[in-house]
Amino acid sequence: MAANVSSPAVVNISDLRLLAKKRLPRMVFDYIDSGADREQTLDENCTAFNEILFRPRCAVATPTTDLGISVLDQKFQLPFLLAPVGSSRLFYPKGEIVASREAGVAGTGYTLSTLSGCRLEEVKQATSCPAWYQLYLLGGRDVALKTIERAKSAGFSAIVVTIDTPVSGLRERDLRNGTKELLSRNPVKMFPYLAQILVKPCWMTQWLSDGGLMSFPNVELDSGPMGYTEIGPALEASVVTWEDLKWIKEAWQGKIVVKGVHIGDDAKKAIDLGVDAVVVSNHGARQLDSVAPTIRVLPEFVKAVNGKIDVLLDGGIRRGSDVVKALCLGANGVLIGRAYAYGLGAAGGPGVARAIEILKTDVLRTMKLLGCSSVNDLNQSYITIPDNWT
Ligand code: FNR
Repeated sequence: MAANVSSPAVVNISDLRLLAKKRLPRMVFDYIDSGADREQTLDENCTAFNEILFRPRCAVATPTTDLGISVLDQKFQLPFLLAPVGSSRLFYPKGEIVASREAGVAGTGYTLSTLSGCRLEEVKQATSCPAWYQLYLLGGRDVALKTIERAKSAGFSAIVVTIDTPVSGLRERDLRNGTKELLSRNPVKMFPYLAQILVKPCWMTQWLSDGGLMSFPNVELDSGPMGYTEIGPALEASVVTWEDLKWIKEAWQGKIVVKGVHIGDDAKKAIDLGVDAVVVSNHGARQLDSVAPTIRVLPEFVKAVNGKIDVLLDGGIRRGSDVVKALCLGANGVLIGRAYAYGLGAAGGPGVARAIEILKTDVLRTMKLLGCSSVNDLNQSYITIPDNWT
C-alpha cells in the first residue's frame, strides 16, 4: 500500500525515506539509499552542508519571495530540478512518468535517465515543464544516435551527458541483497534472496501489474530493448570521453549539460568544448568513494567557470536550506535525487509532490529568515564557510 504522505507525521525528507523503506523490498530500497564502498562520501555529501553557517539580515520584510531560476535560458519556478534516477519504475508503477508529471505540476524540470523503464516520449508528454534527457552510451554510438533523435523529436530541451560512470561503483548492499541474482530470471539463483520480495506483497502486486521486470526501452539494440543484466558490461564498453562530446553535440544541435565533474580543470575542458552547463556531482556518492562532497568543491568550480556557463550541483540535498547554501556559493540551481526518489518509493506521485513541497516550503522559509527576497540575489555574504574551502 502507498503511504499517507500528507500525514502530519511526514515533516521532512527523512520521514519519506522511512516510508519508502517500509513499502519497498530491501533490495529496491537499498538500490536508492546506498552509496559506493564504505559510503564515506554518501555521508559527507549531506554533513558538509552543516559546515556552512548562515548570516541573516534581520528586520527585512520579504512579502514576495521569488524562487524562480533560469538555467540554459529555460525558466523554472523552483531553484531545484529532478535529477536522473535510473530504474524509477522499480520504485513505483510507471515511476518516470509519475515523477516527470509531478515536476511539471510544481513548475520545475525533470531529467530522464537512459536507464528508464518508461519510453522517453511518454515521459516528456507527462510534463508541462522543460525536461532533459540524460545520456549514457550503452550499446554504442549508433544506439545513442537513435535515442538522441527520439529525444529531439519528443521535445526534450537539453541532453545531459553523465561522465562519471566508466564502470559501475561497488555498491556492497546490492551484492548482499542478491540484486544481480534477483534480476537474472534464473529461479535457482533467485531463490535464496526471494524472501525480501515476498514480505512486501503490496509492492509486488503493483510491480507485477505494471509488467514486472522491466527492460530499458530507450536503449534499442537490434535484438530489442536492453535488459537489466546487460547494463554492467554495457557501461564498461561505452565509457564517455571528452572526444565523444563532439559528436554528441553535432548530433543533438541543442543545449548540452555535462554531469559528474569534480575538479575545476574539467570545467575548463567543458567550456572549451562548447558545453552549456555542468553539474558538479559525484553521482550521489554511488561511484568513486572518498571523493570530496560536492558542496565542498563548488567554490573551486564556480571560480574556474567564472560565469561563462551555468553551474548546477547535486549530492546530499535533503533540506531547502541545503538548496539555499548551494545558491549562496554560486550554483545557478541544484538537482535533487534521493529526496524525490524516497517520495516516489513511499507513495508514487503524491510522494514526489510531498518531497517537492517540503523542499519548496523550506527554501521559502529560509529566504524569509535570511531577509532575501529572490534566490537570484543570494551570494556568499549570506553565509560563512570554513577557511580551507576557498
Ligand atoms: C542515480 N543517479 C543517476 N545519475 C545519472 O546520471 N544516471 C542515472 O541513471 C542515475 N541513476 C541513479 C539511481 C539512483 C537510485 C540514485 C540515488 C541516483 C545520480 C543522480 O542523478 C544524482 O546525481 C544523485 O542522486 C544526487 O545525489 P542525492 O540527491 O541523491 O544525494
